Amino acid sequence: MTTALETEIALAMETEVTLLRHLPFLLQDLPSLSGDDQDVIDVLKEAGLPKGCAVLDLGCGRGDITIRLAKAFDAHVTGFEGHTGFVRQARQAAEAAGLSARCRFVAGDLRGAFSEEARYDAVLMVAVGPVLGDMATTVGALRTLTKPGGLIVIGDGYLEHGTPPTDAYVDYADRATTEASLIRFGDTIVARRERSPTLAAFNDLTLTAVPRRAEDLKAKHPEIAADLDAYVARQIEEVALMDGPVVPVTWALRRADG
Ligand SMILES: C[S@@+](CC[C@H](N)C(=O)[O-])C[C@H]1O[C@@H](n2cnc3c(N)ncnc32)[C@H](O)[C@@H]1O
Repeated sequence: MTTALETEIALAMETEVTLLRHLPFLLQDLPSLSGDDQDVIDVLKEAGLPKGCAVLDLGCGRGDITIRLAKAFDAHVTGFEGHTGFVRQARQAAEAAGLSARCRFVAGDLRGAFSEEARYDAVLMVAVGPVLGDMATTVGALRTLTKPGGLIVIGDGYLEHGTPPTDAYVDYADRATTEASLIRFGDTIVARRERSPTLAAFNDLTLTAVPRRAEDLKAKHPEIAADLDAYVARQIEEVALMDGPVVPVTWALRRADG
């Protein structure tokens, strides 16, 4: 039986539940699951995240960003991730990098993190989507885990002004509306990266590497060929959206004292 968490993860990964167990194979050539890894490092450097800090990474995938943060900031990082295959990969990668002592990965629904106190210097939610609600609700939740004066990083996007409404963009608002939601609680946007060159390179790689891995998988599992074709088609659509009306952004906010 499919669980609610599996359905949510499939939505975040733009796929069917049937393909979830194949994602580690399909995505193995990509440097992260979002392409936002360099942008996250850059906004946190610009915002002055201190060395030796405590970081929480919600929906951390294979730990690609988590582990880079541990290296770049000597950070102690906790990642929450609901896909058990990704958690396994994250733990193996941290061990291979000699960072197991500073990277802790919790397997399960990221909502489980909200029993913790506001003790993190930075809280990240990168390319996870509206799991916690709309943008304002999401920031409201993330700031409960962030120290006053700490940083919140969100990887998402906004809709180019004047884009005609269609179903493909229902989750997006224009930049002014999106950023008004981000600062609803009095926090400040301290850094952002929009449509960065590293994300463009990631999207180019996605368009070549993922279809190739899908073909390999089809040869072994012809019974899922239709799902694989649909997955590749959605990846192509997603990249077209990001090259078109949806501007992908990594934002860093500084939490106000209140
Ligand atoms: C597009 S990936 C991004 C992963 C990572 N943040 C990165 O940028 O590489 C979205 C991740 O969110 C995870 N996810 C979605 N909903 C979740 C939930 N409710 N609890 C835990 N993880 C979740 C998915 O399993 C997936 O690994």
